[in-house]
Amino acid sequence: MSQHPTTYVPKSAFGKWFESRLPIAGLIHSSFIAFPVPRNLNYFWTFGAILVFMLVSQIVTGVFLAMYYTPNASLAFQSVEHIMRDVNYGWLLRYLHANGASMFFVAVYIHIFRGLYYGSYKAPREILWILGVIIYGLMMATAFMGYVLPWGQMSFWGATVITNILAAIPVVGDTIQSLLWGGYSVGNPTLNRFFSIHYLLPFMIFGVVILHIWALHVPGQNNPTGVPIKSGKDAVPFTPYATIKDIFATVVFMIFFAWFVFYIPNYLGHADNYIPANPSVTPAHIVPEWYFLPFYAILRAIPDKLGGVIAMFASIAVLAFVPWLDTSRVRSTNYRPLYKQFFWILVADTLLLGWLGAKPPEGWYVIVSQIATAYYFIHFLIILPVLGFIERPLPLPNSILDSVMGVKGGAGLPTGANAEPQSKG
Ligand code: HEM
Repeated sequence: MSQHPTTYVPKSAFGKWFESRLPIAGLIHSSFIAFPVPRNLNYFWTFGAILVFMLVSQIVTGVFLAMYYTPNASLAFQSVEHIMRDVNYGWLLRYLHANGASMFFVAVYIHIFRGLYYGSYKAPREILWILGVIIYGLMMATAFMGYVLPWGQMSFWGATVITNILAAIPVVGDTIQSLLWGGYSVGNPTLNRFFSIHYLLPFMIFGVVILHIWALHVPGQNNPTGVPIKSGKDAVPFTPYATIKDIFATVVFMIFFAWFVFYIPNYLGHADNYIPANPSVTPAHIVPEWYFLPFYAILRAIPDKLGGVIAMFASIAVLAFVPWLDTSRVRSTNYRPLYKQFFWILVADTLLLGWLGAKPPEGWYVIVSQIATAYYFIHFLIILPVLGFIERPLPLPNSILDSVMGVKGGAGLPTGANAEPQSKG
C-alpha cells in the first residue's frame, strides 16, 4: 500500500520463496511497520483505526445476526424478538450491532471534523478525502437500510418518508422509488431489497476503505502543524508508536461503546421501533436516527419538496469540493486564528441542525432551521474561499521537530506553505 521501497528481508527459505512470488509480507511491513508517521500526531489521528475496528465489528455481528433474522414483512419483527429472547447471546449481538452503528457515526464525525480542522483534505490528499466522502455516503445508505430491517413503526415510516422524497427528483425519481419499493408502496419486496443491499454495502465500504488507506500512504499522514515531514527526525516508525497508540485508543473507545451496549442499549433508538410496523397508523413524529438529524433538518427547512431534496444531497456533496473551496495556503487551523472561530461556529451550527432535526417542523423551529441551513452553505461556499484571501495566518514552525521542541515559528509563510512532495520516506 505504500509506495516506499520495502526494507523487509524474509528470514526463512520459505519466506524468501513466498515473497518472491507474492510480496505481501513486504507490503504489510512497509505500510504498517516501517511506515514513517509524523511524531506529533495527537489522539484525533487514532480515529481511522477505530473506524476500521467498528467496520469489522459491524460486519462480524451483522453476519451472525443474518443467520437468525428473517427478511419477510410478516416475520421480520418476530425474528428480531426471537434473537433478543431465545438465541444464545442474541441480545448481545443485536445491541452490539445497533449501538455499533451509532458508535461508527460518532467516530466518523470526529474523523471528518478532525480532517476539516487540520486541513487534511488539502493537496496532495484530495483523492483520499473524496474517497472518505464516498465512504460516508455508503455508510449513510447502509445505516438507513439497516434501520428498516426490524420492521418496527419507525422502520416502516422512516422508509416511507425517505422513499417518498426521492420521488421528487426530476426524471429519474419515480424509477428510483419503484426500484426501491418493488411495488406500489413500502412492503415485503422493499424489505427484501433493503436486506440484500444492507448486506452488500459494508463489503463495498471495505473495498473503498482499502483505497482510502492506499491513498493515505502515498503522501503520508498530515499532522497537527500541517507542515510536511522534512527529515527522519520529524517521523517515527508506525510500529510500535502508532500501533500501540491506536490499540490503546480503540480499547478506550470500546469501553465507551460497552457502556451503551450494557447499560443504556436503547438510549439511542426510538421506542416506537418496538411497535410492529403498521401501515395504517402513522407515528406522531417520524424521526430518523440521531446521526441523520442535521440532514433531516436541512431537508425540512426548505418549503419545497424538490428544493429540500437538493439541499440535503448538496449538504453532503459540498464536502467533496472542500479541497478546492478552501483557498488558504495554510493547512492547520492552529495557525489560522480567524478560521478557527468559523470552524467552531460550523460545529455549533451542525449541532443546532441536529437538535432541530428532532423537533416538529413548525413555528420558529422552521425559521431557525432555515437560518442554520443557510449558514451551513455560507460556511463552505463563501467563508471558506474568502478567508484564504483575507486572513493573516500565524507563522508556521520550521519543522515538525521544532514544533514538538517548542521552537517558535520562523518559516513564515513562503508561497505554497502547504506544498509538499508527493512522497517522503
Ligand atoms: C469506514 C470509514 C473510514 C475508515 C475505516 C477510515 C480509515 C482511515 C484511516 C485508518 C486513516 C489513517 C489514520 C487517521 O488519520 O486517523 C484515515 C485517514 C484519513 N481519513 Fe479516513 N476513514 C474512514 C472515513 C473517512 C471519511 C468519511 C472521511 C472524510 C469525509 C475521511 C477522511 C480522511 C482523511 C482526510 C485522512 C487523512 C488524515 C490525515 O493524515 O490528517 N475518512 N482514515
